[in-house]
Amino acid sequence: MIIAVDGPTASGKGTIAKALARHFRLPHLDTGLLYRAVGYQVSLYNGDPDDPADALAATNFPDELLGHPDLRSEATGGLASRVSVHPAVRQALFERQRSFATQSAGAVLDGRDIGTVIAPDADVKLFVTASVEARAHRRWMEMTRRGESHTLAQIEDDLRRRDERDTARKDAPLVAAPDAIMLDTSDMDKDAAIAAALAIVNDLTGQT
Ligand code: DC
Repeated sequence: MIIAVDGPTASGKGTIAKALARHFRLPHLDTGLLYRAVGYQVSLYNGDPDDPADALAATNFPDELLGHPDLRSEATGGLASRVSVHPAVRQALFERQRSFATQSAGAVLDGRDIGTVIAPDADVKLFVTASVEARAHRRWMEMTRRGESHTLAQIEDDLRRRDERDTARKDAPLVAAPDAIMLDTSDMDKDAAIAAALAIVNDLTGQT
């Protein structure tokens, strides 16, 4: 079984993907982390994330980088969004994601283009959304817990900018696959969102 979970930043897609993977005992790949590693690697070498050649060169980041705590920061998220507009970067990361999706054990992948580009053949496609306000509030709580100080307004601004860039890009923009099931988590807490996602998978596949 392949489960694709797409959606914007802080929609809850990562939490949902992790929970589904645990529940169905499937391997999980957070594909945003790959783009974050590229963005981080570009900055390590003082490259320009908006330059396609610099960004492409950074796709050969070492695997150890994926565990680096700085990958989770807002700043790295912004860099990731910038390097992810380059088609050559997306292509360089394609095979890794595709082979993860098609491994015999099945898989859960979360990102922006899983249901449309990486695994259009997925058994379940979820498109997780939430209002900008709800997402900004969640991100703000997460940042505060980690000791990063940002105002709610700053975070909301940043989210809007990222949504705009991820949605407007020509190659594999953030868009729901025609056969994706929409899940709006604005008014749901973590447990409710996970329960709703499990119910959708159950409905579509009969798997409990
Ligand atoms: O999900 P995230 O916030 O970790 O993703 C960071 C950026 O990476 C996001 O703004 C756009 C890019 N991304 C992408 O283009 N395609 C994916 N499948 C996952 C992430």
